[in-house]
Amino acid sequence: EKDGYPHYMAKEIHEQGAVLRSTLKGRLLEGSVDLGDGVNWTPDFLGSLRRIHLVACGTSYYACLVAERVLERWTTLDVKVDIASEYRYRDVRIGADTLAVFVSQSGETADTLAAQRKVRAMGGRCLGITNVRGSTLAREVHDLLLLKAGPEIGVAATKTFMGQLGALYLLALKLGWDRGDLNPAEAERLASILLKLPYEVERVLERESEVKKAAETFFGFDNFLFLGRGFSYPIAMEGALKLKEISYVHAEAYAAGEMKHGPIALLEPNVPVMVVIPKDGLYEKTLSNVQEARARRSPVVAVASDGDDLICQMADTVIRIPRCDECFSPFLSVIPLQMFAYHVALLRGREIDQPRNLAKSVTVE
Ligand code: M6R
Repeated sequence: EKDGYPHYMAKEIHEQGAVLRSTLKGRLLEGSVDLGDGVNWTPDFLGSLRRIHLVACGTSYYACLVAERVLERWTTLDVKVDIASEYRYRDVRIGADTLAVFVSQSGETADTLAAQRKVRAMGGRCLGITNVRGSTLAREVHDLLLLKAGPEIGVAATKTFMGQLGALYLLALKLGWDRGDLNPAEAERLASILLKLPYEVERVLERESEVKKAAETFFGFDNFLFLGRGFSYPIAMEGALKLKEISYVHAEAYAAGEMKHGPIALLEPNVPVMVVIPKDGLYEKTLSNVQEARARRSPVVAVASDGDDLICQMADTVIRIPRCDECFSPFLSVIPLQMFAYHVALLRGREIDQPRNLAKSVTVE
């Protein structure tokens, strides 16, 4: 049932084009987005929204951090994102103008469920995004968006992250479009980019051999620094989590601009820097961090755009992704990081699908 792959994780990584395609299927209509029968919002409700809270744990939380950036760009809403185990104990403000979104692959994560119950008790409207029909989250929320990723067996979340990004981008596009925050021509343009994205994802999946080579060079290092800015910062966090989780290698993620505020002290030839640096509005800024790393003789691995020649002069190893509109780079840049973690774990002889100390869903606090 692994379809010839040695591990579920490898199979699930390679399913991501199909997962994104089925997440988007039937959702993008002429002039709007249809989130399906599970979501029942009136135009009045959408118009009255001022705030959106996104709450989750682990990889699902990183999907929310990507969504934060896209919601800020495509809507006029105030966006707050938090880890469920924090959010549930905070003094958050919830009103009739607040939509709270809970993202959980399993729909059974204890902290996420508790956070949802708290918002509900305060009278807030709750949307659940989950991969498991009939899960506790699916049953308890007002509105439900089901991912169509199929069962994910590997403990490391991969294809469900892709599905979550797809669902959250649909949500952002719907809010921007229906509320009139986005101009309709721009919304149409974004919808058409989104529709083509599964093909781009498949192009990245074909490039595994490049990532494997990078893993062969770097699997012996015990400490990594992951850097990114803007849309790439949550992807750096997700890449570091994948590496820790399945290879047991220490990896810390930082917003690239924070490097000078502390982590730069860690840099030396034994500490490689994995930088997520697509050609976007923040490219030059991140490039200056790459220079800083080089100056401290840290090896640099860059996930960079096709056609970016400059990065070859700066980084020791370059892993390529197709060029794309900057809002969409997370769909592409996360894939090499998943593959990097996979190959490092493989070379280190780890239990890839069932890493030590971890469970697929965390049903206790
Ligand atoms: O089922 P959930 O999405 O609520 O799970 C949240 C986290 O436990 C989960 O994403 C975890 O971080 C993964 N093992 C990451 O690969």
